[in-house]
Amino acid sequence: MKVRQIVKELDSYVPGRSQDEIANQFNLNKEDIIKLGSNENPWGSSKRAIEAVKKNLDLSFRYPETDLKELKLLIADYCNLNLENIIIGGDGADEIIDILAKTFMDVGDEFITPLPTYTYYEFTFKPYGAIPVYAKWDLKTNSLDVNSVLNNITDKTKMIFLCTPNNPTGGVISKEDIEKIINSTDALIVIDEAYIEYTGNTLSNIDLIEKYSNVFIMRTMSKVLGLAGMRVGYGMSNPQLIEYMHRIKPVFSLTRASQVAAVETFKDKLFIKESTVKGIESRDFLYNQLSRFKNLNVFNSSSNYIFVGIKDTGFTAKEFTYKLMEKGVIIRDCTSFKGLDEYWIRISIGTMKDDEKFIEILHEIIE
Ligand SMILES: Cc1ncc(COP(=O)(O)O)c(C=O)c1O
Repeated sequence: MKVRQIVKELDSYVPGRSQDEIANQFNLNKEDIIKLGSNENPWGSSKRAIEAVKKNLDLSFRYPETDLKELKLLIADYCNLNLENIIIGGDGADEIIDILAKTFMDVGDEFITPLPTYTYYEFTFKPYGAIPVYAKWDLKTNSLDVNSVLNNITDKTKMIFLCTPNNPTGGVISKEDIEKIINSTDALIVIDEAYIEYTGNTLSNIDLIEKYSNVFIMRTMSKVLGLAGMRVGYGMSNPQLIEYMHRIKPVFSLTRASQVAAVETFKDKLFIKESTVKGIESRDFLYNQLSRFKNLNVFNSSSNYIFVGIKDTGFTAKEFTYKLMEKGVIIRDCTSFKGLDEYWIRISIGTMKDDEKFIEILHEIIE
């Protein structure tokens, strides 16, 4: 078999564990498992979205719509932009990352990605022959080391990924720092705002799209919007760039079900508002509770998860997450995030009931 060398050398992506997996592995009831591992909306999807999906199932034998006009208009309204500024991905924001790679990256081109950050950028870009160049996310201050980005820009830099709030650390990048980077290069600056709603919607960088031609903003419906299973993400930039990306995007990648679910979710303003408010409440509750454990290094977060150093507990993240899984709690072992050693975990928000139960179980493990 003549598999490409680049694929042979690729490490598999490590996703968060699912409830089914853990239920089987530990012989537990799926319903009793508390999932705090994948940064989802723990209150579920919009009821309006679910109803709309059910109603539309009869049309499953038809190909889906391809122009996505209604959905684009709703996103335009949500983000205060125009329809021409928007592209929608059918495997979530992960598809947007893939389209960016297909649109921009030739073999040998470089992209800059801080460590640690969302690992899917690198995972997606490498098979195209693109070369990762690493900048630094400073764990001491939970902020981007801007100079580590600026110092790594070369003639070959095609793209720079800036995740704000950053996954997995939860810190944000200031607009001032982002503009400093934009002004230093012609490379495309991809600002990943997957979790921006959890900043209280105060820290978006959408206004930079009008101001600069080399800005791209990426978002997802998998987080506060509660549609991780439907796989819808979107990207925003100037109309010319978006038009190029549309040339290469898989035309049918949004299913009928995901389209109607997405449309109804954006119309369900109350759902979005409540999900945001409850999400922030849950995060703040978890932060306060976790901060009481003397042997945990708890990071402040502007997102829907909390990053925690656990070295002082004497456990590695693998041991720690295993102990929690045995008791029916899934959190994220961050060992697979490049740039981290084996002593970091990430805990996603849950419902208040989930959070309280989790804290109770945590006491049993590290009191
Ligand atoms: C920072 C960041 N960007 C993008 C994504 C991808 O989201 P999606 O589920 O839309 O593919 C994630 C998912 O966890 C993420 O954390």
